[in-house]
Amino acid sequence: MAIRRCRTRSWVTNPALLDIVAAMNETEAETALAPLGGASGLPSPRMGRPEQTRIIAMCNQKGGVGKTTTTINLAGALAEYGRRVLVCDCDPQGNATTGLKVPMLDHEAGPTQATTVIEMRDPHPLVAKTKVENIDVLPASMDMVFLPSRLRETGAALQYYARMLAHFHGEYDDILLDMRPALDTDTDAQTAAANGAIVMVDVDEWAMKAVKMQVAQHKKIMAGLGRESLDILGLVIGRVTKPMGDFDATVYKMLRNHPRIPCIGEVPVRSADLKEARNAGLPVVFFRPKSDTAGFFRSIATNAKLVTAA
Ligand SMILES: Nc1ncnc2c1ncn2[C@@H]1O[C@H](COP(=O)(O)OP(=O)(O)O)[C@@H](O)[C@H]1O
Ligand SMILES: [Mg+2]
Repeated sequence: MAIRRCRTRSWVTNPALLDIVAAMNETEAETALAPLGGASGLPSPRMGRPEQTRIIAMCNQKGGVGKTTTTINLAGALAEYGRRVLVCDCDPQGNATTGLKVPMLDHEAGPTQATTVIEMRDPHPLVAKTKVENIDVLPASMDMVFLPSRLRETGAALQYYARMLAHFHGEYDDILLDMRPALDTDTDAQTAAANGAIVMVDVDEWAMKAVKMQVAQHKKIMAGLGRESLDILGLVIGRVTKPMGDFDATVYKMLRNHPRIPCIGEVPVRSADLKEARNAGLPVVFFRPKSDTAGFFRSIATNAKLVTAA
């Protein structure tokens, strides 16, 4: 079966990749996404009208693919275009929080994102400013590790992040949800609050399976809410190293040419720019605006149609 499917992609010759190609085909079949561009072939309407707050889930249940790096730096690119951005750090590791030089919340000292979500409180008192005027952070805290079980106990987990984030409607143009690598009650609730998603991947043979699982989970969540499928703005390939060996080159080509989800950008490995920017608590578009690294994130913002290129 897998071999027959591969005939349409004759450039895949490595037997180890047949499973991935099968997964890619299953992604098409099982997730039954609307065709890109809509039935008419015209660009499909992107989520939200300009005056509305857009909530974007930066997701993949696979860790270390560049979700947090892209969240921080896409926030920078959006802010540079004049958009007001809230980074909601959904990962108890708190890398988006500390990466923007904001302290994590201490659950022993007061309310946290986790208690605010569960107790349905106004999250505004938790919001922290960053060094960039247009970027605020809703910080993470260690007690978020208990969120999946606390949300499960509510019996209506999918409602909770949407209710919390509704407090920010109209105040920010974009809310980026930097999600943890999991498919769990908390990530489901965050996805349910989103109107769009950017799926981060890396060049790895498990990447395609991860995309398949992620998209299937989106579909399940949306079905549970009686909504149409989540608007997937695209794939972003993080941590790209070139030149590549044949195996990686084939995986990369499959990701770039995914049949249903457009690849809207890639971020080559740029440790100096990205780590120095992070150390300064700044997105790279502000830290090193003329670098090619800054350009990668501007491209993601425009390719995702989150902003219009000047
Ligand atoms: N383009 C890149 N160049 C160099 N290092 C990167 C790049 N993207 C991510 N990293 C590094 O890889 C690690 C994982 O990235 P991260 O953004 O934290 O991934 P995730 O949030 O998906 O777990 C981090 O140490 C980060 O600094
Ligand atoms: Mg992360």
